[in-house]
Amino acid sequence: MPQLPGELEHRNGATCIPGGERPYYQALGNEEAVFKAAYRQGLSLLLKGPTGCGKTRFVEAMAHDLGRPLITVACHDDLTTADLVGRYLLRGDETVWVDGPLSHAVREGAICYLDEVVEARQDTTVVLHPLADHRRQLPIERLGVTLDAAPGFGLVVSYNPGYQSVLKDLKDSTRQRMVAIDFGFPATEVEEVIVTREASVTRSVAAELVRFGQAVRRLETGGLREVASTRVLIAAGRLVAEGLPMRDAALAAIAGPLTDDAVVSRGLAEMIDIYLAAPA
Ligand SMILES: Nc1ncnc2c1ncn2[C@@H]1O[C@H](COP(=O)(O)OP(=O)(O)O)[C@@H](O)[C@H]1O
Ligand SMILES: [Mg+2]
Repeated sequence: MPQLPGELEHRNGATCIPGGERPYYQALGNEEAVFKAAYRQGLSLLLKGPTGCGKTRFVEAMAHDLGRPLITVACHDDLTTADLVGRYLLRGDETVWVDGPLSHAVREGAICYLDEVVEARQDTTVVLHPLADHRRQLPIERLGVTLDAAPGFGLVVSYNPGYQSVLKDLKDSTRQRMVAIDFGFPATEVEEVIVTREASVTRSVAAELVRFGQAVRRLETGGLREVASTRVLIAAGRLVAEGLPMRDAALAAIAGPLTDDAVVSRGLAEMIDIYLAAPA
């Protein structure tokens, strides 16, 4: 498959080596300056915001600018400390230690990005605390060692505050060790630029999609899994770029993914007719 501009391969725990073109990232405010300042000071970062608002792309651009490898881990509710730190594996008739992505990042001085960190098991905080604060150390219990993070190591975690249950909210003690950056949806103009570029559509198509997306975001979100993110607007734009009528593109790429509920679907379809009915 041809690589899209700025797109990086995303296998869990895979390392992206910086080089080549900068991943396309359109700044929304002062987040680039805050990230770089925090990174240089060895402070960990907490990126807050809904899915599809550019957090992953932002980290990729920052890793590129700072010239550091990036190791991304998509957290999930089965993710254990061993998944992050490493474990003994059987190789033939030998047991060998295999570093997890976090240990790897700590040794290499890479930027480690834990996406949706609150999804991970609570016990992972045991290793995250000493890493996130001034100690910058990773205890590896199974090996009986504590690693000092190599220069250049950076810890970045993201989570979606609206989406998570209160129970799974990050512990205060973890949060206090981090510098936070809030991601909202981009301002109208900025989002139009992003959709135009990422979907390869005209500015006026992008403007219509953004206007519709903003209308969806203003709805009471009951019944919607997620709000209409920049990501789904881009997906709709890509379908338009392939020649689909605006209405079909929006139904397939925006309304469909957002809800399974028949009544809510009908409501969204009506909005699409109002906002995007004109032939593209
Ligand atoms: N500020 C931005 N600059 C460039 N592209 C963006 C921006 N915000 C969103 N995007 C686009 O939206 C898509 C989803 O963003 P992503 O970084 O994956 O979101 P998140 O990690 O917050 O879920 C990206 O692949 C990119 O095409
Ligand atoms: Mg992401």
